Amino acid sequence: MLVSTHDGPGKDAPGWWKSAVIYQVYPRSFADSNGDGLGDIGGIRARLGHLRDLGVDAIWMSPWYPSPMADAGYDVADFRDIDPVFGTLAEAEALIEEAHAAGIRMIVDIVPNHVSSEHPWFRAALASPDAPERDYFWFRPAKGENMPTNWTGEFGGTTWTQAPDGDWYLHLFTPQQPDLNWDHPAVRAEFESILRFWFDRGVDGIRIDSAALLFKDPALPEVTDGVPHPFHDLDAVHDVYRSWRRVADEYSATTTRDRALIGEVWMPDVERFTNYLRPDELHAAFNFDFLGCAWDPALMRACIDRTLEAHAAVGAPPTWVLSNHDVTRHVTRYGRADTTFSFDNNLDRTPVDLELGTRRARAAALLSLSLPGSAYVYQGEELGLWENEHIAEDRIQDPMYARRGHTRDGCRVPLPWAEDEPPFAFTGSDHALPELALPELALPETALAEPWLPQPREWKDRTVQAQTGDPNSMLELYRQAIRLRRAEPGLHAPEMTWLDHGPDVLAYTRGPDFACVLNLSGAAVALPDHVSPLLVSGPLDDGGLLPPDTAAWLRLQPTPGH
Ligand code: GLC
Repeated sequence: MLVSTHDGPGKDAPGWWKSAVIYQVYPRSFADSNGDGLGDIGGIRARLGHLRDLGVDAIWMSPWYPSPMADAGYDVADFRDIDPVFGTLAEAEALIEEAHAAGIRMIVDIVPNHVSSEHPWFRAALASPDAPERDYFWFRPAKGENMPTNWTGEFGGTTWTQAPDGDWYLHLFTPQQPDLNWDHPAVRAEFESILRFWFDRGVDGIRIDSAALLFKDPALPEVTDGVPHPFHDLDAVHDVYRSWRRVADEYSATTTRDRALIGEVWMPDVERFTNYLRPDELHAAFNFDFLGCAWDPALMRACIDRTLEAHAAVGAPPTWVLSNHDVTRHVTRYGRADTTFSFDNNLDRTPVDLELGTRRARAAALLSLSLPGSAYVYQGEELGLWENEHIAEDRIQDPMYARRGHTRDGCRVPLPWAEDEPPFAFTGSDHALPELALPELALPETALAEPWLPQPREWKDRTVQAQTGDPNSMLELYRQAIRLRRAEPGLHAPEMTWLDHGPDVLAYTRGPDFACVLNLSGAAVALPDHVSPLLVSGPLDDGGLLPPDTAAWLRLQPTPGH
């Protein structure tokens, strides 16, 4: 039995999502307990101790439902079960219980914009133009010789595929992900029932995939500058989230745990973004503005200010996100000359300095974990993993690759746990890992399959085993930072105050005792007055100065009794 080192879920922690550290598990790549080369629930249960030791408050589980895996599980055929590749519903329920026993909350991923083309609704819709399910989707006749619209899909390419009966159906992503018609009451009712299904199983939160895309203008106009977009951010979506909020609030009010709704909302317009966070809508949304921001003092400060101001206006907690399963890992991004991220700016295989990227990623960890709000950690970020930009073309599985020439597989590579070479105990024996054998990995008699994506050999220094106990490792930095974040009263206060430390240094206090300083200039700088450093992302130089691309957490006043 795992022993919790911090408060378990309960009404002793209302509003836990306001300041939580939330760890994203990408189940295909976390740990493989049955030797098929794909991660599974058995692997997550076996390695839950890693997350407990890291000190995270919650896990966000990327989709684990039955799926043909045309988009790595974001093409869901049944929202109320688990894909056999990952395990069973009973195992999922056991994981939820074990996570709770370890003081870790569980968030599941719901994909309301589309289903899999193998979903029973879509199969019925395809089988007959008269099926009632036909209206749950967007079937339209051709426009003369043309598809119903010329829209470009979210992965690039067209958004319509012809059904055998001649009509076309809409899919903003791949043809295997037909879009649902959210104007239909049956679609709304079904998703409320799915929310209840998972809340009834004890999950603490829902991550909402592609949350701004649900509604389409039924007139299906073309995308034209200066007129409302036909499928991005239509106002009707807010009514859906208001009704979801009522469901979540009902569970929060009638059970022992608070439930949260967290939206994936990519939106350049901050005001439109925060509309999703009004008090009767979602509890939180991912901060992609911060994720895509360049490693630049003025831009980062402006982004932080913009975030704080916009969230304060609606009373929602900010979130701080550096990486996820869709974007280039930030060790790689921060090691390039252009440190921004955007799907429209493909920087794959441009020169990268991984040492610089790692130094900046360490500093970014201290930044994102000390800003007010909640922080997200994407699996492997705590190990300092970089993007694998050298996956052979015949191993690439991401459907985005064929459409945009960019693959997201490089950030989805299986985690390195132990040992000196691939598969780094991702698949197979975990004997060398302390406390990580609960329950034992069930090893098959037959040979173990290769991990579904190749791991760089250089990751031998970045395994959990290699980093554990090494005070200079990324893993120990994350462990210490998360521990301190929990203990420091200043980091629980909602405010932060900027300190003036020159234009190229981000410095701020959280409460009277705590400061964070991040040096984004090209030269070492003096630290502001302080009593002692609490944690540094890299060594101070001989004169006690903070080197470039380095961050420090400082104690500002003597602690009473010390
Ligand atoms: C979201 C997911 C991404 C997926 C897409 C379609 O953006 O994060 O992985 O491909 O939605 O569901």
